[in-house]
Amino acid sequence: MRQPLKLTTSLLDWYRDNRRDLPWRTEDPDPYRVWLSEIMLQQTTVAVVRSYFEAFTGRWPTLDDLAAAELDAVLHAWQGLGYYARARNLHRCAKVLVTEFGGRFPESEKELLRLPGIGAYTAAAITAIAFGQPSAPVDGNIARVIARLMKLETPLPGLRRDVGELLAPLIPAQKPGDMVQALMDLGSAICKPGKPLCDQCPWRTSCAALKAGVVEQLPVKAAKKIKPVRHGVVFWIEDDESHVLLRRRPEKGLLGGMMEIPSSDWREKKWRMEEAIKEAPVLAEWQTLPGTVRHTFTHFHLHLIVLSTHTHQRKTNSGVWCTPNQFSSHALPSVMKKVIRHVVG
Ligand code: ADE
Repeated sequence: MRQPLKLTTSLLDWYRDNRRDLPWRTEDPDPYRVWLSEIMLQQTTVAVVRSYFEAFTGRWPTLDDLAAAELDAVLHAWQGLGYYARARNLHRCAKVLVTEFGGRFPESEKELLRLPGIGAYTAAAITAIAFGQPSAPVDGNIARVIARLMKLETPLPGLRRDVGELLAPLIPAQKPGDMVQALMDLGSAICKPGKPLCDQCPWRTSCAALKAGVVEQLPVKAAKKIKPVRHGVVFWIEDDESHVLLRRRPEKGLLGGMMEIPSSDWREKKWRMEEAIKEAPVLAEWQTLPGTVRHTFTHFHLHLIVLSTHTHQRKTNSGVWCTPNQFSSHALPSVMKKVIRHVVG
């Protein structure tokens, strides 16, 4: 790479004038707030995260507070951010730090990597931003910026490894966290996936992709995998006072520990009615509601049929009964909110 120092300086100058004002960005960054923001920002935008970050830090201002919180309260506050495994790991990680690390984050990437929910990107981001170490985190934004700057044609996800190596010489020993966050801001404000604002970019005279006229073709995307469809059946059981049965999903697996309208296994083969009702939590006469509830997860599309029944007696002790206007006090995943809208309107 030519002139890494010039590249670093021009980006840091740009950052000084254009940095976003974000609640976790302070002169003396608090590792707890840096970690929390990085976990929240995975797969979500800054615009969405802001209010969640304020709510979490208002309610649990320190790591100790979060570690002492009930898991359900954390999952509930996480509603809307998606990927609940991250919230569960967040809570587990807080507990591990308090019980095994004296309530402090370790400062090495290697040790951070052993904690629940902390992968290579997050460990590097925390060490650079919170501890001032010259680590090189590579998220989607940073991969795009460097792929364009250096005209890297390796498709994602392999690109990330190449970027990590090429990024390292650009990270300065002084204020590495500023450089990392400058790259994030450049990726978000200027070097955007579509319609990048190259004429405003501090790297426009060095950018190999701009010179070759291929900015918008980079980074090269991996061929899309076709997602399979899975099928499930949901059992809507309502009593005389309009209470509906909710139950908790098993701790392990997709949407682990979250509440659901009781549902069958989600499998590739469609369910026949006679088979499906054997999966129901109660014996009852079932009515099939018209239509299908569709939801897409990372790895598959889900099609749900809703069976409904009315009961005078609560024939099961497991789960909780509540009216639709009490649903919001439970951590219900988006797919179950769709089921509720499908039934209640
Ligand atoms: N995206 C991921 N981490 C970020 C951060 N610390 N600042 C801005 N955007 C981000």
